[in-house]
Amino acid sequence: MNNISQLISLLGGTGLVAEKLKIKPSAVSNWRKLNRIPKNKLNAILSLSLQHNINTEDFLPSHNFDNLNFKVLLIICGGIASYKSLELIRLVKKANIDLDVVMTKSAQRFITPLLVTSLNEKKCYTDLFSVEDESKMNHIMLARKPDLILVAPATANIMAKLANGIADDLASTILLASFSQIILAPSMNPVMWSNLATQENYQKLLGRGIGFIAPDVGDMACGESGTGRFPEPKVIYDRIISNLINIKNIADQFKNVSIVITAGPTIENIDPVRFVSNRSSGKQGFAIASELSRRGAKVTLISGPVNIPFPKCANIIQVITAQEMFEKTISQLPADILICCAAVSDWKFIPKISDNEKIDSKNKIKKTNDELLFKTLKNPDILATIAKSKLRPNLVIGFSAETNNIIKNAKSKLISKEVDLIIANDVSKNKVFGEDSNKVFLIDKNNCEEWCEQSKNSVAFNLADKINNIFTTANICDTNA
Ligand code: C5P
Repeated sequence: MNNISQLISLLGGTGLVAEKLKIKPSAVSNWRKLNRIPKNKLNAILSLSLQHNINTEDFLPSHNFDNLNFKVLLIICGGIASYKSLELIRLVKKANIDLDVVMTKSAQRFITPLLVTSLNEKKCYTDLFSVEDESKMNHIMLARKPDLILVAPATANIMAKLANGIADDLASTILLASFSQIILAPSMNPVMWSNLATQENYQKLLGRGIGFIAPDVGDMACGESGTGRFPEPKVIYDRIISNLINIKNIADQFKNVSIVITAGPTIENIDPVRFVSNRSSGKQGFAIASELSRRGAKVTLISGPVNIPFPKCANIIQVITAQEMFEKTISQLPADILICCAAVSDWKFIPKISDNEKIDSKNKIKKTNDELLFKTLKNPDILATIAKSKLRPNLVIGFSAETNNIIKNAKSKLISKEVDLIIANDVSKNKVFGEDSNKVFLIDKNNCEEWCEQSKNSVAFNLADKINNIFTTANICDTNA
């Protein structure tokens, strides 16, 4: 049996690998025959191997991530374990990963920047106010360049600084100025680790999405024992590789997929001053647009008037009224996926005094009459119209905000609007609008999934996974057909 064949067997066999990678089993059989894994599937296989604790070095020629262009920034803080980060540098360098290293002042008391520079064959950064460094690679570039920032060893001090937004040296400033994924590998005296202050900072940072490689339990260099030991460099290395692979996998997940998303409220003018609208903040739709963009989709976000910052996505179109939202959404078709999160005003409101007496609503309406009446005109249903049209995207997703009979109403919308998936939530007692968290039900023609209450970002993340599953399964079916 050849190497690749052995590896596939260890990963559970042809069928299981094909299922996990969402590809045809015949493709995996081919790899076994040819003893070769195509470049574009290599990172998925590495990721699977890491999950199974399989050392791929035994099966694949070498860990060489040249073509994946991984960029890592290692921040070394001052601790007895600093010397272990030298082994980490060696492992990362061997895998051809682009590595930059920053050392704090106290790290330099344990190991020297010269040693790090020699190992990494690159300048080691130490000073926030270095004229020479800032002119070549300033601290903002150091913060923005990497896919991942690893702080190893991370001291109680750097955790406290990051948790409290202190930026008083190069390392802490970079951590605050970065969009990259951050992972901390804490190492400290067990009493320092269990100190309430450190534990509170740890929880705070976990809550903000900072990753941790938990410290080991055992004898410490300081003579005490407990939790606080720096994990073996190979353990840290495996973890960062697996995270890097996930980052790259995710970045390409929706490559070449066009997605149109409506979000926020719409406004129906009564006159130039007054309007009718609703409580939608746009937060959920924006989080979905941001997550799908991060995963490589070409997202067009069509947003009603909101008071939150726009996410990073390919195209943003701002609208006011439901009619405008309808026209702009249609103008963005064809697309692969449509997600209608917007709380669209169901009616236009045309003011009148009586059935016979109209009002001039071009100017501000005066309070001369006690009563003001409205004629209502139904707005077009963007979701239903597109779902039933020839321009229907492959996947159409709607939202359903209800105050009672949540699931029953959502199911009837799924059918009447002819959509593939409805995300339903309970908006009674202002539980959702403007909030940062959401509790949703996912309803399709066969199932109703209840998700626990979670942040809107987390709903977006899980929804992106779900969409990816539906989308890739549909594509496999297409190619098999
Ligand atoms: O019928 P209802 O407004 O409850 O349906 C909600 C779903 O329909 C949401 O996905 C919303 O974005 C969409 N919708 C729409 N155009 C409308 C009304 C609702 O796209 N005029």
